Amino acid sequence: MKTYIVGNFKLNFTVGEASIYLHKLLKAVPNYRDIEVVVAPSTVALQPLSLQIDRHKMKLAAQNGFYRDFGAYTGETSFSQLRGLVDYVIIGHSERRHIFGEDDKFIQKKVAGAVRNKLTPILCIGETESERAFGETADVIRDQVLGGLADVSAEDLDKVILAYEPVWAISSTKAAKEATPGEIAEVVKLIREILKDTYGVKVAEKVPILFGGSVKKTNAGAYLMVPGVNGLLVGGASLILSEFIDIIEIAKRVSA
Ligand code: 13P
Repeated sequence: MKTYIVGNFKLNFTVGEASIYLHKLLKAVPNYRDIEVVVAPSTVALQPLSLQIDRHKMKLAAQNGFYRDFGAYTGETSFSQLRGLVDYVIIGHSERRHIFGEDDKFIQKKVAGAVRNKLTPILCIGETESERAFGETADVIRDQVLGGLADVSAEDLDKVILAYEPVWAISSTKAAKEATPGEIAEVVKLIREILKDTYGVKVAEKVPILFGGSVKKTNAGAYLMVPGVNGLLVGGASLILSEFIDIIEIAKRVSA
């Protein structure tokens, strides 16, 4: 399986800044066949960057999208509009869940809508600090995985990527803590078991599971060596071009 290194810019960079960043990133990173480099800029940057990107080298992701193809949905961007511009779409990010109130039912429709439009959803799941403190991590993860994937058939499961992002480890969270490789390993194992029990061993092994939360060049290697982790979803550190390039190089070394 490939190693995925995904940079989520969140609400940062103007279109011009994102374009300069991409230009430099394309120059700095060779064409690694076993590393899938993906950047997720703001929606407004997707169209110009889709013309600029070399898709043999790296791919674009949207940070969000809507499952209706068209209609009276002010402010939304449909997966059918994103199709052609991006290959991936981040769905159910904790900021969408907690700031914008997206629930598993809504996220489930988005995941299915993305798959229907031939985009690969990167479904984010993860418990909050208090859910972990109350021993609810396993239940939250189970609900989010099965809820998010509820409208995806077993045949389509290999078109989905999961990203485990514990909310307490995201750098913008108050008093964010870095997750330990052991903590990540435990939840990734659980996710794999949920997939096996629901969809069967063969399919479950094909689903890439990424980790996200305060990933930096100093912990990227250790996180990529956690059994069952197939890549990283990088927020803050992806905004610093040299740091993101370093993380890609680390992924290359670890996967070699
Ligand atoms: P940070 O890497 O800034 O913690 O963000 C993680 C994240 O939310 C990526 O989607």
